[in-house]
Amino acid sequence: MKLRAVKWLSEPRAGVQCLQKQMTNFASFILIGALALMTACSPTKTTTGGPSPAHLEKNGAVTHLIVNGKPYLALAGELLNNAASTAENAHPAWAGLAKANLNTVLVGVGWGWTEPEQGRFDFTALDGALQDARANHLHLVLLWFGSWKNGTSSYPPAWVKRNPDKYPVARDKDGRGREILSTLSTANRDADAAAYAALMRHVRQVDSTTGTVIMIQMENEVGVLGDSRDRSKEANEAFAAPVPRELMDYLQKHKDTLLPETRKLWDSAGGKMSGTWEEVFGKGTGADEAFMAWHYATYMNYITEIGKKEYPLPVYVNAWLVQPQDKKPGDYPSGGPQAHNHDFWRAGAPQIDFLSPDIYLPDFAGIAAAYSRNGNPLFIPETRPDPANAFYAFGQLNAQMYSPFAIERRVSDDDPLGKAYAVLQQLAPLILQHQEDGTVRALIVEPGAPPQKVQLGNYVFDAAMGRGWRAAQLPSPAKSVAGVPQTASPFGPPPVRGYAIIIQTGADDFWVAGANLNIKVASTLPTAPMASLAAVEEGKFENSQWIVGRHLAGDDTGMGGDDRASLQLTADPTILRVSLYSYR
Ligand code: DGJ
Repeated sequence: MKLRAVKWLSEPRAGVQCLQKQMTNFASFILIGALALMTACSPTKTTTGGPSPAHLEKNGAVTHLIVNGKPYLALAGELLNNAASTAENAHPAWAGLAKANLNTVLVGVGWGWTEPEQGRFDFTALDGALQDARANHLHLVLLWFGSWKNGTSSYPPAWVKRNPDKYPVARDKDGRGREILSTLSTANRDADAAAYAALMRHVRQVDSTTGTVIMIQMENEVGVLGDSRDRSKEANEAFAAPVPRELMDYLQKHKDTLLPETRKLWDSAGGKMSGTWEEVFGKGTGADEAFMAWHYATYMNYITEIGKKEYPLPVYVNAWLVQPQDKKPGDYPSGGPQAHNHDFWRAGAPQIDFLSPDIYLPDFAGIAAAYSRNGNPLFIPETRPDPANAFYAFGQLNAQMYSPFAIERRVSDDDPLGKAYAVLQQLAPLILQHQEDGTVRALIVEPGAPPQKVQLGNYVFDAAMGRGWRAAQLPSPAKSVAGVPQTASPFGPPPVRGYAIIIQTGADDFWVAGANLNIKVASTLPTAPMASLAAVEEGKFENSQWIVGRHLAGDDTGMGGDDRASLQLTADPTILRVSLYSYR
C-alpha cells in the first residue's frame, strides 16, 4: 500500500475568506474546526490545474481517500447489479440519487457487455453513467464484474464461457466443472486483464480531466463456492507443490505482525519455512483456503497492476463474510478476502490497496474492527441503508465510505438515509479532520437498551433514546439477532435507533449531530463538577458557512436541573453547535 503525506493546510487562499465568515459567533470556538472547514471552502481543483487521480493518503490515525486534492467522505450507495448495463436503464435513477444526498455511486461494469466479442469493446453504458453522474455532481466507483461475481463466473462474455478448453473452470472432487473460472489459468487471467486494461485506458481517456471515477472494486465477493478449493488437475498439481517462496518470505518477514488467525494456522503445522501447502498449513480445509486466497490474490494483483499502468486509481476487493450457519470454507466463498485470510491477500496482492467487508450481519462494529487491523482502511462497499450505522461508521470507526446496496430503491430526500446523508455531507470536512486525532466519536442507542456514553475532553456524553422515538416506528415484525432489531431484507427499512456524532473543537466546544436522543453531559473536572450549556445553536452548513436556524434553550434542550447539561436530538437528524461550561 503506497501512502503519501497529507497537506491539510495547503489549499489555496479562497478558504480563508470563507473561514472569516464562519467566525462571527463563538469567537474562541472553532480554531480546529475552522481549519477543517477551510478544506470544504477550497476550490476543488488542485493548484496544478487539473485534478490528479483520486488516491489514498495516511493522515494521523486514518487513511483518507483524496479526491480533487482533499480528503473525501464517500456518502455512497451501490446500484443493483445490472442497473448500469445500459445507459437507458440507469438514467431515471441518477437525479434521485443526488436528491437523496449521495455524493458517490457504485456501478457494476460487466465484462460481458464491455467486450461482447474478443477485442471489440463497448463502453456506451459506462459513458452514459459518466454523463449522468456528472450532470448530478456525483462521483463513481466502478465495480469490475470480470472473472467472478459472488463466487461464480456469470459476468464473463459468452466467448469465454463457451470455450472452457481455452478458459478452464474450477472442478470438484469428482472432476465436474463448476461455473467458476479457474484461478490457475493464465489464459483466464490474461483475458480478464486485457479487458480491464481497456476499461482503465478508456477511463483515463474520457475522465482524467474530470475525475468523476474515484475508485475501482476488483471483481466481487470472490472465492470458491461448494468446495474448499479448486480440484482441477492444475490446481491439484500446484497444491502438491511447495508453497511459493514469495509467500513463505512474506510470512517470515512479517511474522511479528501476522494476524492471530494466520499464526494459528501456520503454527498448527509446526511453523515450517518450506513444504507443500499441507506440510506448511496442515491437512484440512485451512490449507485449502490459504491456497485459494493466494491464487485469487495473485490473479487479481496481476490484473490490478496492468490496470494501474493505464490509470492509477485506488483498487479494493470486497468480501462475502462468513455467515453464522457456515461450517467450512466453500459454504462461504473459500479464499475470498474474509478477515482471517487478510495476510494471504496482503502477501499476494500488494497492488490492491485495501480489503473491504460487505456488512449485512448484525455485529457491525466487530466486523469493522476485524477489517481495520494492520492499517487496513475501512470502506464499506455494501451494507444496509441504516442511518445509525452510517453515523457510527464515520464517527467511531474511521470509515471513509458507507454504501448501502440497491440504493436506487431508496432514492428520496425524505428517506431516513437521505436525511442522515444530508447532515453527514455538511459535517464531512469536520469529520475527516477530527478522525485524524480521535476528537470525533459516535454512539448508537437501541430501543429499550441502556444509555451509551462517550467521553471527549472533560465531558462525558450520556445518551438515551429520546422523545422522537415511538415503538410503533419499529419495523413489524421486528426480528432480533443478538439483541439488535433486524429487517429480513437488505432493502427493508432500517430499525429506528438513536444515534449521534460528537466532534470536539475546543475545550468546551462541540458539534453534536444525530437523531432520537436525549443526551446528558457531565463534567469530569473535580474542581468544576457541574456542567451546563453556555449556548446552543441549531442550524446547517450552506456552502461551508454555518447558518443559525434557532438559538436553543428551555424546552428544546431539555431541563438541566441537575449537575448535568441536557440536549435533545429530534426524530429527524439535526446539527447542534454546543458550547458548554463547568462550574462548582
Ligand atoms: C452481495 C453481492 O455482492 C451483490 O452484488 C448482490 O448480489 C447482493 N449480495 C444481493 O443481496
